[in-house]
Amino acid sequence: MILIKLGGSIITNKQKPLSPRRKTIDKILKEIGKIKEPVIIVHGGGSYGHYWSVKYDMHTKPAKTSPKGVAIVKNSMVELNKIILDSAVKNRINSYCLPPTDFMNGNKAIKSKILTINDISKSGLTPITFGDALWFGQKKSYILSGDVIMTTIGKILKPRLSLFVLDVDGVYSDLKTKKLIHDFKKEKPEIKNNKMDVTGGMTRKITEANNMAKAGLKIFFVNGNKPKRITDAVSGKRFEGTYFRK
Ligand code: IPE
Repeated sequence: MILIKLGGSIITNKQKPLSPRRKTIDKILKEIGKIKEPVIIVHGGGSYGHYWSVKYDMHTKPAKTSPKGVAIVKNSMVELNKIILDSAVKNRINSYCLPPTDFMNGNKAIKSKILTINDISKSGLTPITFGDALWFGQKKSYILSGDVIMTTIGKILKPRLSLFVLDVDGVYSDLKTKKLIHDFKKEKPEIKNNKMDVTGGMTRKITEANNMAKAGLKIFFVNGNKPKRITDAVSGKRFEGTYFRK
């Protein structure tokens, strides 16, 4: 099984609220459709969920947040998810829409449900889930990042390969010179000038990739603007991006 995260920065224009990058989404899903083994897709919020979660001051830590914020964030994620689902079907991927409420209880993953996602992926369907605003309990809610979903699913289902599809080539050791880190473990990078975006996007991706690598998984960061890099990484033919391993 191949586990793929479509980052919010590649599927939306983060500079402009509620703006999907439809052509890019189509190209990426067309490429994913060529993969001849079970695939599970997770996508992020970008200028949909992230935009509203910032407006309503919602974070990954459970807190008493505005119920209206929860409603708005959730609705925006359903809207973005529908765009992904439509593009998937158009590109002959038999998507199986799975909001994270299907396999999460508060901030705990329901293991049996995650095991079922694997069965679904082996039956000719492609489960598609996403980062979302989730009810935590006692009037609290939180933002569950798609990056965290990657680790949760990854640790239980042990994908052969996990891909984070980004709008950059991978992790740069220096943002100024754009020097790419190919092998995160080998190069033990000291990351310079790496100012994170408002949502802390890259830092969290690196943290989750390291968590996944510690669990013995193989992770690649690839540029979704070059969709062929996805299938090249899956086939093991050629790899361009940043690689994480134990
Ligand atoms: C966040 O998901 C979802 C919401 C803010 C509702 P991610 O954290 O996975 O989103 P990106 O990929 O960084 O945009």
